Amino acid sequence: MKVVVSIGGSVLAPELDSGRVRDHAAVIERLVDDGCAVGAVVGGGGVAREYIGAARELGANEVELDQVGIQVTRLNARLLIAALGGAAAPRPPEDYEAAGEALRRDDVCVMGGVTPGQTTDAVGAALAEYVDADLLVYATSVPGVFDADPNENPDARRFDRLSGAELVDVIAGLEMDAGSSAPVDLLAAKLIQRAGMRAIVLDGREPGRIVDAVLTGTHDGTDIVPDGASDRPTYWAQR
Ligand code: UTP
Repeated sequence: MKVVVSIGGSVLAPELDSGRVRDHAAVIERLVDDGCAVGAVVGGGGVAREYIGAARELGANEVELDQVGIQVTRLNARLLIAALGGAAAPRPPEDYEAAGEALRRDDVCVMGGVTPGQTTDAVGAALAEYVDADLLVYATSVPGVFDADPNENPDARRFDRLSGAELVDVIAGLEMDAGSSAPVDLLAAKLIQRAGMRAIVLDGREPGRIVDAVLTGTHDGTDIVPDGASDRPTYWAQR
């Protein structure tokens, strides 16, 4: 199966920690060993926030700040590439065509951001659509999609399953809620809905959970299931 794993910056690199990057590389290697074609998209994390903060103090405008953020996501991608050794294409693709080419060569591709005005959440969804992935997994620091921010609201309820349209509605509501941190952003949700894509949003702080989710569909997060799709696609049913 073909899978895109979007690893949030706060999951891969809240601060620089080679051990954590190695753990995520081990997850990708495990998926490849099982026969998966893997595209990974990584966020900027704490390092991006520090660089963006410093550049803002220096007078950079929002597009310039986004370019700084994109460069940091690509640096993080290079860390994961370093940990993957020869299994991965040697440089982060800067667009979807280059990522698709890497996957056609049977390389793992690891990319960061692409263009200002969005985050790597949207990159993950666009890449998954572009390469016609069977599954998109968001490894975030929130254990699924909730009806409120679970860090702020102890009564927040997790959705086990949402359609693409329901995901858009929930995320739009969360983004209107000042201070609430949605596990994926609205553009990503809209891309998932438009493409009719199957996705999983889960807590990626224990990277091993990504393996179970991809290979067997087992996880404690939220399934995004396109309208009319079966509960268990054939690649899970065969296991
Ligand atoms: P992230 O995807 O890490 O943003 O990209 P985020 O969701 O704000 O960070 P986390 O996941 O909570 O840690 C970092 C920054 O890079 C720029 C944006 O400024 C973003 O905030 N970026 C990233 C882009 O402008 N375009 C992209 O395609 C990706």
